[in-house]
Amino acid sequence: MKRVEYAEANKQTKHPAKVVVAIVQDENGKFNPITLEWFMKTSIKPPMFAISIGHTRYSHDCLQQNRFFNLCFPSKEMIEATKLWGTKSGRDMDKLAAAGHDWFAGRLAKYPVIQVAKATFECQVVTQVKSGDHTIFVGEVKHCWLDEEKEVVTVKDLM
Ligand SMILES: Cc1cc2nc3c(=O)[nH]c(=O)nc-3n(C[C@H](O)[C@H](O)[C@H](O)COP(=O)(O)O)c2cc1C
Repeated sequence: MKRVEYAEANKQTKHPAKVVVAIVQDENGKFNPITLEWFMKTSIKPPMFAISIGHTRYSHDCLQQNRFFNLCFPSKEMIEATKLWGTKSGRDMDKLAAAGHDWFAGRLAKYPVIQVAKATFECQVVTQVKSGDHTIFVGEVKHCWLDEEKEVVTVKDLM
């Protein structure tokens, strides 16, 4: 056991993590998907998810304006889209349209539910906490969608 810098401890403790996509909406009504590794369940009753979003992300601006997000668990068919949504910004393009996946409007706030995804949880933001250079947005799950046949994407699929 030795004392190390944070960067080294962080690198060595990474394990195959799940990856999700939060779909948010900007002030002009454009939907914007952002790929996220930093998310967690935070409550059973009611069900809640927390997502951590960097202050510089366009999605951060969106969530300050419109207090909903659809938490999408991408399927293997969505590997390229998940890469795109994690490397390009909605400030510069329409990321949802660029990926070309079909979607339908969900029930909570009519945010996109992607047809080929493994699952989507429609969430309403109930609270937020600043965490260094990120903000943790906590969303209460209102509706869920699932395709039992699909396999989820992990961070390894994106490398
Ligand atoms: C695998 C992966 C995981 C990521 N996880 C997060 C995350 O948890 N939080 C975050 O703010 N950005 C994360 N990012 C970076 C954003 O997805 C990326 O900066 C994105 O282009 C921001 O888009 P936006 O400007 O449209 O919001 C991740 C990217 C990848 C590829």
